[in-house]
Amino acid sequence: MEDKYLIEGGSTLNGTVCISGSKNASLPLLAASLLTADKCIFKGVPHLLDIDNMIKMLSGLGAQVNHQGSQIVIQARELRETGMLHLYARKMRASFLLLGPLLVRLGEVCLPLPGGCAIGSRPVDLHLKGLSSLGARFQMENGYIRASAGELRGCEVPLSYPSVGATENIMMAAAAAQGKTTIINAAMEPEIVDLADLLNKMGARVTGAGSSVIEVEGNRELHGAAHTVIPDRIEAGTYMIAAAAAGGQVHLERVIAEHLRAVIDKLREAGIRIEEGNNELLVRPGRKMNPLKIITGPYPAFPTDLQPQFAALLSVVPGESTITETVFENRFLYTKGLQQMGAQITVDGRTACIRGVESLIPAQVEATDLRAGAALVIAALMAPGRTEISGVYHLDRGYENLEGKLTSLGVKISRVADQAANL
Ligand code: UD1
Repeated sequence: MEDKYLIEGGSTLNGTVCISGSKNASLPLLAASLLTADKCIFKGVPHLLDIDNMIKMLSGLGAQVNHQGSQIVIQARELRETGMLHLYARKMRASFLLLGPLLVRLGEVCLPLPGGCAIGSRPVDLHLKGLSSLGARFQMENGYIRASAGELRGCEVPLSYPSVGATENIMMAAAAAQGKTTIINAAMEPEIVDLADLLNKMGARVTGAGSSVIEVEGNRELHGAAHTVIPDRIEAGTYMIAAAAAGGQVHLERVIAEHLRAVIDKLREAGIRIEEGNNELLVRPGRKMNPLKIITGPYPAFPTDLQPQFAALLSVVPGESTITETVFENRFLYTKGLQQMGAQITVDGRTACIRGVESLIPAQVEATDLRAGAALVIAALMAPGRTEISGVYHLDRGYENLEGKLTSLGVKISRVADQAANL
């Protein structure tokens, strides 16, 4: 039976929360381990459903995977394409990150095309165009993509949009290609820098990661490496917004403030007090809350993965706030759940207009995707009484030990298999 969260809202959050390793950094890092037959050691990997699925795909491909706590050791001595890969690849879009490494190692691979999902159609044309420039060939067959490549050769790869996944796939293939690849209009996210760090440790020469032009000098003999994953800026942002919404003082440990600049700026503009320390942040309520105008965009602009959580917070900020989503074409489905809890939100095209109400009301709501689920959890923290959130498996994809961390901050939250269970 599907799990639900029961959250008793209306009290403040207080205490310390330690931020886990980044999900979005871990997925390409784990995929990159396939580029070598040597051992790769990853530390600080979060325990999440998406990571479990990635591990199942790697094991299904024949890699030896040893997972202990937050450390994962992978050795991909010999690889082969199997049904296991196809089974799990369908479940998550990030499986497409295996394309670059598998082209390098196998020269030929067949992957299911990632379908549409709850936030938009999410095509993969930029991945394919970039990898084609390096010499790969693609054929579509009944929902599958058959990819093959002889020797990959470095070249100039201009991207028409700074796609995170496409930049990562191209970087991984280029790391093992012959010669130099220059990615123009590359994504600049911190997760890209983390991948570049790993590829450099493995013997490639990557420069410019974190800027819009990345140069990759390939090495056909990549070797093993050890790497610690960066902290999850989206998880950190979610706890900051939760603290701002529920009030109280929350101390975040293992967090890189620079990765959260756009988020910190917006929270301060809203009136929240934030103190920045060395790998730590303290979030405290301000005297008065102000409405905001948020426009999402590729890093370093405001992250699309935190806009639903901000919408929950802004639902109770007096005045009119707007959120304009420029990254995904359909990322306002979550507003239905917030409306059920009394939020006044209207969506017009790519902009949501939020008129602050005095208080939210508890309700039975459903998480429609990962960050939508996080928005509902934040709304539940603010609604005095018991809110029931179904679709918890979405949250399991991206928030490590959510109930444990919220409980340690004083939240009354429980996970139940059916409606009958009590808090
Ligand atoms: C990654 C993150 C996701 C985040 C997103 C944007 C991971 C595992 N996921 O997703 O949490 O929300 O970045 O910050 O890291 N696009 C194309 N063609 C392509 C590729 C992308 O049109 O070939 C479009 C997408 O449909 C979307 C936009 O570009 O509208 C951004 O996508 P992209 O940056 O690729 O995001 P992901 O890597 O899928």
